[in-house]
Amino acid sequence: MKDILEAILSDDAAASDFAALAVPESYRACVLRKEDAGMFEGMATAEKDPRKSLHLQEVPVPHPGPGEALVAVMASSVNYNSVWSSIFEPVSTFNFLERYGRLSELTKRHDLPYHVIGSDLAGVVLRTGPGVNSWKPGDEVVAHCLSVELESSDGHNDTMLDPEQRIWGFETNFGGLAEIALVKSNQLMPKPNHLSWEEAAAPGLVNSTAYRQLVSRNGAGMKQGDNVLIWGASGGLGSYATQFALAGGANPVCVVSSPEKAEICRRMGADAVIDRNAEGYRFW
Ligand SMILES: NC(=O)c1ccc[n+]([C@@H]2O[C@H](COP(=O)([O-])OP(=O)(O)OC[C@H]3O[C@@H](n4cnc5c(N)ncnc54)[C@H](OP(=O)(O)O)[C@@H]3O)[C@@H](O)[C@H]2O)c1
Repeated sequence: MKDILEAILSDDAAASDFAALAVPESYRACVLRKEDAGMFEGMATAEKDPRKSLHLQEVPVPHPGPGEALVAVMASSVNYNSVWSSIFEPVSTFNFLERYGRLSELTKRHDLPYHVIGSDLAGVVLRTGPGVNSWKPGDEVVAHCLSVELESSDGHNDTMLDPEQRIWGFETNFGGLAEIALVKSNQLMPKPNHLSWEEAAAPGLVNSTAYRQLVSRNGAGMKQGDNVLIWGASGGLGSYATQFALAGGANPVCVVSSPEKAEICRRMGADAVIDRNAEGYRFW
């Protein structure tokens, strides 16, 4: 891993240098263990402590199959699905891995006694599998979290409707909270040059979720002049929803829980901001 990191941090490493770098046999990853899946049974949600279920451990590097890429991860992010996974709510994510494993010989690799979680990454491509033409070792990338098979026509208009649609690092293994991740190459996008690794890794899941829900023609199809009520408007999804509303000529109505969060919304350009604590708002 040290050689890989040095190559990434040096300005003059070429694609051929990355292709020539040895991929290690194992890597450090943030994992859940299958034997722990029942550890919080009977406890209230708030008492379930992710620090007790998450472990940093060495795991074998998976081999990239057709259409897949192995990426050296420089930064990742913590999402709500990382929280759900780590407290085994509403179900253990090992159920997802078992189901995915029944699909094919290739997906069987995901059904393991450990689950490397994490659904965002910024990093550098190390290896690609057969059939990958658009990406090569050395490419600086970010990965979105939508994993689809697209073997049936159901998902061709809207990939979220693919019967085998999954969230990478939640419903699949080999996620982003690790030194190396395995993704489908169609999850990759170029890393924006002006962003740091951390800045590039943070927005993917929340940004694309807010875009789909609000802007996409498969979502709300937001248009100019729409009034958009945004709960948790200073959070991950909420702050992107606020920016999409503003950039799209809609009127965001931002609900937050403190003056500090209200200020975050105003700094993004929102005028209508409700502090639900100060104004006694109740959800539903
Ligand atoms: N289905 C999907 O594809 C998908 C993808 C991503 C996320 N999600 C879900 O979307 C939600 C937001 O995710 P996120 O990453 O944006 O989380 P986040 O950054 O933590 O933001 C959540 C916001 O919710 C607000 N909140 C907390 N408790 C609340 C309450 N009792 N009533 C009203 N608002 C409350 C908080 O803002 P205030 O304190 O200011 O109210 C907080 O900023 C999560 O439930 C997550 O699981 C779904």
